Amino acid sequence: MKKRILIVDDEESIRKSLVGALTDEGYEVSDAEDGRKALELTETTRPHLILLDIWMPQMDGMEVLRSLNKDFPEVAVIMISGHGTIETAVKAAKLGAYDFIEKPLSLEKIIITIDHALREKSLESEISLYRARFDVSTTIVGESPPIAKLKDEIQMAAPTGSYVLISGENGTGKELVARALFAMSRRSDAPFVEVNCAAIPEELIESELFGYEKGAFTGADAKKLGKFDSADGGTIFLDEIGDMSMKTQAKILRILQEGTFDRVGGNKTITVDVRVIAATNQNLGKKIEEGTFREDLYFRLNVLPLVVPPLRDRTGDVPLLVDHFINEFSKGETRRKKTVDPRAVDMLRGYHWPGNVRELKNLVERLTIMTRGGVIGPEDIPDYIRGKVEKGGGEPLFAYDDLKEARDHFERIFIEKKLKENDFNVTATAKILNMERSHLHKKIRSYKIDEGK
Ligand SMILES: Nc1ncnc2c1ncn2[C@@H]1O[C@H](COP(=O)(O)OP(=O)(O)OP(=O)(O)O)[C@@H](O)[C@H]1O
Ligand SMILES: [Mg+2]
Repeated sequence: MKKRILIVDDEESIRKSLVGALTDEGYEVSDAEDGRKALELTETTRPHLILLDIWMPQMDGMEVLRSLNKDFPEVAVIMISGHGTIETAVKAAKLGAYDFIEKPLSLEKIIITIDHALREKSLESEISLYRARFDVSTTIVGESPPIAKLKDEIQMAAPTGSYVLISGENGTGKELVARALFAMSRRSDAPFVEVNCAAIPEELIESELFGYEKGAFTGADAKKLGKFDSADGGTIFLDEIGDMSMKTQAKILRILQEGTFDRVGGNKTITVDVRVIAATNQNLGKKIEEGTFREDLYFRLNVLPLVVPPLRDRTGDVPLLVDHFINEFSKGETRRKKTVDPRAVDMLRGYHWPGNVRELKNLVERLTIMTRGGVIGPEDIPDYIRGKVEKGGGEPLFAYDDLKEARDHFERIFIEKKLKENDFNVTATAKILNMERSHLHKKIRSYKIDEGK
């Protein structure tokens, strides 16, 4: 999307030349010759940035600035003036102006300042967007023992400010955990900056993280700040840290140990105060053995290790998650909220979920959209899930070598299923299974089968 700029100056020649130059730079430019028109155009064209002259007949620039600050605080304003005094510049800064440029205008200076101002603004809105999004996804759904334990650990880890390493398979909720840690920390008012180390090409990651000095390499025509600058005072989330090169790992280690780093192409030492939360779905122990992950970095990060369990180890949470996602996907829908037949829920519980919570979430989304009628039934569950579950109750029956273990396992899930089908009426179930009631009771006790409470 093109960024929109509004130029406000009473001198026509200045407006003309700026409109021309900035249009050439790829901006969408409009202009106004006085303050009143400027405010009108701000309202209607919603510029991202305004170049605002101070001396104008009728309503002067300062007055316009005051009004912008009140009604459109998200717009970046750069003041321009031929009669600039320190005093006016300070006053403008206090009223929220991003910068103050003196006339005669240097086009180069204008372009650089605009670029910086827009970048900083978009960073700001990215951050506030995170916060807004947070509230809805902050709740970690689940009550199974492994999730309850994880939530306890998050509660303990969050306020400490210590580094955290989150590990777990794909789609288990590592990012959600990172956000929860941030939201519950003392830094929750400061930035939360996310970096996906796997998504950034190796040769760019350092300048992304640490920024670069002007002239650090061809094309570096102005200094650029990095993610660690943006995260100063706050939290940085290094996602997929297992994908980081050894060289970058060394720089991260230095930040963890000393709180300092150098910009690419710079020799100044920059000090930051950043809490690092890292996540990985890789086995870092194995990577250390292979020599592709630094052991010292691992120990530094692993002060508070949090392990997010795979969904197959907490299938008790499946019904809650299904419910949660149905609610999420029905938000804003006019149709009545769908319900899920208990037999369908059972099938979902029995599946081994290789893609974990994300896979379940995607499936629920699909089911809410594709299912006709108000109830999602067993026939709506895709075959690959139904087939697996019907064959082995979803349990890894063939994982056994020992016949007795396999037989016991089968017996347990068989009895469980039949009990469920008969509303946990032991007498009726025993009759159907053609066995003594007391014998069935014994089995229920020895297999610790939950009698449907
Ligand atoms: N316990 C949970 N409660 C509610 N939503 C969850 C839960 N766990 C995961 N999710 C949702 O599932 C999706 C995947 O989670 P997330 O992105 O945090 O996983 P991840 O472990 O970071 O995955 P990857 O390894 O693929 O990056 C997200 O939309 C997230 O909101
Ligand atoms: Mg993730």
